[in-house]
Amino acid sequence: MIIAIDGSAASGKGTLAKRLAKHFGLSHLDTGALYRAVGLQLLNAGQDSKNIDEDQCVKSCVELDITLTTSPLIRSEKVAEMASVVAAMPAVRAALLDLQRQFAAAPPDPNGAILDGRDIGTVVLPDADIKLFIDADIHTRAERRTKELLQAGQSVMFRDVLTDMQERDTRDRSRSAAPLRPADDAIIIDTSTMDADDVMALALSHITA
Ligand code: DC
Repeated sequence: MIIAIDGSAASGKGTLAKRLAKHFGLSHLDTGALYRAVGLQLLNAGQDSKNIDEDQCVKSCVELDITLTTSPLIRSEKVAEMASVVAAMPAVRAALLDLQRQFAAAPPDPNGAILDGRDIGTVVLPDADIKLFIDADIHTRAERRTKELLQAGQSVMFRDVLTDMQERDTRDRSRSAAPLRPADDAIIIDTSTMDADDVMALALSHITA
């Protein structure tokens, strides 16, 4: 079984993907972590998101240190900003495409794979068995992200998180390369008034149906 989950930042798609992976015994790939790892690698190399060299970004994808995808350092707002900028580059998206498809084609778990991101159902795995699109009101999402960052020990303010999220949302949805949008055959779930258990129950009811 192959499940594609797309959605906006802090919509709850990552939590849902992890829970579904455990429930069905699927291998999970957080594709946002790939873009964040590229972003961190570029920041470590002294690149600046306001003045970024596209060739350097592609080189960073080709030479990606995959261990960075599990580093807590990729969860900062600075890395999120860099990830959003590099993710808008078609050459970067192309450079990361095979890796994602190969994971789905030969997942470590025999039951299949679940990938979450922005373009999994539309571009990476258009033939996925199940496609979910997770979204929520931006204020709710900014509140969730602020809480997460504070819990991780980062000093952030709600207003700044909201402004940054609005800017990144606009970039993710309006870029020409693989913009964030639901696939025509995706099941759309709005998590604004739901907790993680509600979202899991609703997703499971759709999948088993
Ligand atoms: O889901 P996230 O916040 O970890 O994603 C980080 C950035 O990467 C975000 O700006 C969107 C981008 N991204 C993407 O363009 N395509 C994906 N499949 C996954 C993430």
